[in-house]
Amino acid sequence: MSILDSPGKQQTQKELYEKTRTVIVKDSSAGCSQLAAEVADLIRQRQGENKNVVLGLATGSTPVPFYKELIRLHQQEGLSFKNVITFNLDEYHGLAPDHRESYNRFMREQLFDHIDIPQENINIPDGTVSLDAVYESCLDYEKRIEEAGGIDLQILGIGRTGHIGFNEPGSSRDSRTRMITLDRITRRDAAADFLGEAHVPRHAITMGVGTILGAKRLVLMAWGGNKAEIVQQAVEGKVTDRISASFLQEHDNATFLVDQAASSQLTRMHLPWLVGSVEWDRKMIKRAVTWLSHRFEKPILRLVDEDYNESGAGEILTASGRAYNVNISVFDLVKHTITGWPGGKPGTDDTQRPERAEPHPKRVLIFSPEPSDAVMSLGGTIHRLVEQGHEVKLAVQTSGSLRVPDLAAQKFAAVLQEMAQVIGDNTSSAGGEYASQVLAQLEEKGLFGDDSEDVKRLKALILRGEVRDAALVCGLESEAVVFQDLPFYEKGRYRQFQMTDEDVDCTAALLEEYQPHQIYATGHLADPSALQTLCYRSIEDALERFKDESWVGDCRVWLYRGKESEMNSYEIDMAVPMSPEQLELKSEAIRKFQSISQDELDSRGRNQTTAKRYDQLGMAEYEAIESFQRRG
Ligand code: F6R
Repeated sequence: MSILDSPGKQQTQKELYEKTRTVIVKDSSAGCSQLAAEVADLIRQRQGENKNVVLGLATGSTPVPFYKELIRLHQQEGLSFKNVITFNLDEYHGLAPDHRESYNRFMREQLFDHIDIPQENINIPDGTVSLDAVYESCLDYEKRIEEAGGIDLQILGIGRTGHIGFNEPGSSRDSRTRMITLDRITRRDAAADFLGEAHVPRHAITMGVGTILGAKRLVLMAWGGNKAEIVQQAVEGKVTDRISASFLQEHDNATFLVDQAASSQLTRMHLPWLVGSVEWDRKMIKRAVTWLSHRFEKPILRLVDEDYNESGAGEILTASGRAYNVNISVFDLVKHTITGWPGGKPGTDDTQRPERAEPHPKRVLIFSPEPSDAVMSLGGTIHRLVEQGHEVKLAVQTSGSLRVPDLAAQKFAAVLQEMAQVIGDNTSSAGGEYASQVLAQLEEKGLFGDDSEDVKRLKALILRGEVRDAALVCGLESEAVVFQDLPFYEKGRYRQFQMTDEDVDCTAALLEEYQPHQIYATGHLADPSALQTLCYRSIEDALERFKDESWVGDCRVWLYRGKESEMNSYEIDMAVPMSPEQLELKSEAIRKFQSISQDELDSRGRNQTTAKRYDQLGMAEYEAIESFQRRG
């Protein structure tokens, strides 16, 4: 069935849970090609009838691969957009059309400049309109949509608040195009684009929920694990103005188009035995039993037959006997994930341990996409690995310079300048000159101008210092920290990075030189355009190049989660516990990242939640736990 087909009567068990038709695709590029093909058909069909097509468009990272595919269809397959009229969902208030972050500019760069759509067919809310003219301007936008004959197909993304367009929690079912105040979470999510939350506009103009639901068809795309929870709530939860995407349930031709990661919290993926038959292998049994334990708030060993039967997991007992037996085997499985020896415990029987005992010491390579990622997610584990004698290397994949606010660079440059004046000798004058140059360049570029090479270098150096200090707290000397400075980061910007072979070459060179026994990496579940995902892909692609070499066969890859989401208990293959002192040590390491907002870095809560969940399963009660999944 094509994405744009009418959903018809919902039939299967899964749709008892899913109240909006949901199509799960392998990844975003598969989803976007499918959707673009449908849009192309619609455009061509209307061309045959000499009619226009009205498309509603979205911005953000989600539709980028979709626009790329439309451009490809135009350039390589001659698809014309002459009969297409577009209406964008929203625009930040206060941003001029050529502002780096305006949606107007985004649309030109991502789509309009590359296709043959007539300029007069493009409609985007005006972000520059004065406050007293906003109301009229919004009415006019609604009128233009109506005059165009209404929207045939509206493309949507979804924010972590569940917003569609910028309809933040509280937007009513009947709201129309208007100015709204952005939610704190939305502003936080946009902070990287705007070089800090403080610079993210507070207001935006958006089509209302009612305007959106007025479209004949709606396709909401969502990619990556950080959207999984909100997708589940919007698709399976109650219709509520707390989650504006939930109103799609009331539309008779709406589709959620999601990748595997974004679908991972849907009942059919998360608790598949509730919607059909499953193969009860060890992993599935572990998943079901840990879920039962959390659901009934009972330790695993106290679950009884009725708990299994009442929750649709009775089939496990048919195959395995009584709850008692199943409980014990799952309890053991979870217990064996806990280890204070993440690099393996030398000289012991390792059959039940997550990591093998030999060789010891191991060469361990820890990849950190941005300088702070690894310390934040596995600072405690790094400390243990070093203490236990392993040869640990921390590979910082990108310089992270885009994260460093101008203020930090200004501060360092000013100190350098002043120092040169105080010392006043020849050796420091070059530094003084450099500092003055940097200060002038910062002034000249203003808040949203692009950083000059000098400024970028200084920002990168600031972070290098901070990551070295943080690593030292975790026991790693500065020689053990390597900086990859992957080229895609230096050439790009958030949400629009493009990885190339050059990046894979850099990672391959490092892997070949180091030939690790253990790798720690993150990013596979995140948004596909996220920097972490691209960094992870560079590792996967590089490993693929060496797949026939014996060291790769002997190398285990452990995946950690960034800040996007917690690991479920059943997903954890290695749980490294932390004492209160170890947690404090990790916090101290994190505090070394002084140029980055500490709000963005705090991982204490996540580590403590994981520990609480383990405690609740009936494991020992730890202060905190860092968790890892073994790459399959
Ligand atoms: C943008 C828009 C928003 C985004 C949403 C997701 O025009 O309407 O609702 O779709 O914030 O943003 P990304 O795609 O960047 O995750």
